[in-house]
Amino acid sequence: MCGIFGLVGQEKGLVSKLMAGLSKVEYRGYDSAGICISRPEGLDLKRAEGILDNLKQIVGDMEDGYCGIAHTRWATHGPPTEENAHPHCDPQFRVAVVHNGIIENEVQLRQILIEATSNTCFKSETDTELVAHVLAQEVDAECGDAIPDDEQLLAAWRRSLDRFDGSFSLAAVVKGREDVILVARSFSPLILALNDAGYLASDVSCLIGMVKDVFFIEDGDWGLLRKDGMELFDSEGEPVVRESTTLQWNEEDAELGGWPTFMLKEINEQPGVFRSCLQGRLSRDALRGVKISFKPDLVRIIACGTAFHAGLMARHYIEELSGIPCIVDHAHEFRYGTPSGPKALVLGISQSGETADTLAGLMAAQERGYPTLSIVNVESSTIARQSDSILTIRAGPEIGVASTKAFTGQVLGGLLVALRLGRLSNKVRSEELAVINNAARRFPNAMERLLASSQLEKGLKRARRLFHNQDHAFFLGRNSSYPIALEGALKLKEISYIHAEGYAGGELKHGPLALIVDGTPVVVISSDGIIQQKLFGNAREVAARGARVIMIAVEGDEEASAHADVVITVPKTHRLLQPIMHNVVCQLLAYHVAIDRDCDVDRPRNLAKSVTVE
Ligand code: G6P
Repeated sequence: MCGIFGLVGQEKGLVSKLMAGLSKVEYRGYDSAGICISRPEGLDLKRAEGILDNLKQIVGDMEDGYCGIAHTRWATHGPPTEENAHPHCDPQFRVAVVHNGIIENEVQLRQILIEATSNTCFKSETDTELVAHVLAQEVDAECGDAIPDDEQLLAAWRRSLDRFDGSFSLAAVVKGREDVILVARSFSPLILALNDAGYLASDVSCLIGMVKDVFFIEDGDWGLLRKDGMELFDSEGEPVVRESTTLQWNEEDAELGGWPTFMLKEINEQPGVFRSCLQGRLSRDALRGVKISFKPDLVRIIACGTAFHAGLMARHYIEELSGIPCIVDHAHEFRYGTPSGPKALVLGISQSGETADTLAGLMAAQERGYPTLSIVNVESSTIARQSDSILTIRAGPEIGVASTKAFTGQVLGGLLVALRLGRLSNKVRSEELAVINNAARRFPNAMERLLASSQLEKGLKRARRLFHNQDHAFFLGRNSSYPIALEGALKLKEISYIHAEGYAGGELKHGPLALIVDGTPVVVISSDGIIQQKLFGNAREVAARGARVIMIAVEGDEEASAHADVVITVPKTHRLLQPIMHNVVCQLLAYHVAIDRDCDVDRPRNLAKSVTVE
């Protein structure tokens, strides 16, 4: 979850480049930040509580050096204070360490360190500080007070790593060795790159615009990064060479480009995401690039957060279009369960491709012999590389912590998977494929029309007022609009901090109705046919108890306004695609309500974009 960035061999502008790298990875954690510059005279450490801007204010006069490591933190051990911010050093300031992950044997290690050294004093509550203590001890064991050579450094690093259990990506600098950064990866992402300097980062988006090619090191890899090369070893201590991959995203993709926030930019990018995800995959009579070679008896979808809601949409598609039963699990529930089904296909969905639980769930499935397919955004991510096959959603970098455009791509990805399964089951005929293809071709233009419409703007203006001074809100859907209700509630709660719940309309009388009081905002995501009438019934029931109803309906739905305080309409599209259109309104509603409450929508409190720890 934390962001790591490091540079070795950058003689000029080291500090500003480290800060530039950190700002690109800040979405991984923003409760504190720090950098450490290694110079011949020693380690220079600066850390600050809070967002990166606080660190920026104190590094202005910091001298450059030859090598440095930097970190933005999402707290796991100890509160977000300056003392707990990374980098962490040993008491003698001989080594400095940045870390993403969790050292699981922290308690035992702490005890051993205390018993071994009478003057051991810990300045923080973090597990990372232990890494610094252990490494300093091992360097000392190798060479005493002398500057370690490569062999001694590697031996000390290897012995240190052997003492840690858990998940980690680590980078460490050692006094007197400004020419190298020690690196290690174990179930937590770490990427290396070479250009004018040696680079390391926890995230590719951090390296966009700085390098062209990157090296994805594998779990268990460890070694040294230099200005012009790297010396890597696997978990057995055997030297390894990792292949480089060319980055596919441009610098502009990861910049605001005139938008006030990444979230608003990414919401508005959705028509383009839809087009590029569709490109070359669906045509009148063919479906390409969705690699499923057999007809499973069962599909098991695993995902977290917004991707889980995309999974619920995919289940509707899969069951309707292929007749194959489908179960959707939160990845963290699945990984400790016992998946069954003789010919099950396990489908992972993840924007980042780094979510620890989704990755672990896919690996657990593979161990039990299930083939895995993943819908991912980051093509070079760990989940993408671990899965038997992938479908990339081609959404470009998603920086806003609250996922928006990735959801659209994931749902479309789910539809493509369902169509492939439908073809394998002989349930989707060419005519139906042609109809869906036609609708999908027209869809992005319709979404553009929605995003530009004054009706949307006016509707949102009226709707957002209903959230003033409200602490609770509800979202209702049914059938395929139910996942959108869940996603709408998630968006609202994560960025505006209003407590919001999504419910299936049929569940209303089984509890939630008790919470409706005068003024409670209830967003109803419309559907069609009989389901629509049932949702109107739900709207009447909450309105009768004082709720203020915001209805998201399709253009031409004359009846909707009879059941709502505010109606926002969206262009009518194919039934299967309609929920994606409705969701755009939920995203914008959450966005504006959060802005009205002065919330930092791109950096919601306590959250991080990529959940790389369990
Ligand atoms: C975090 C993010 C969400 C995201 C979820 C799953 O909670 O804040 O936006 O939906 O992780 O992430 P993934 O990268 O696996 O889609």
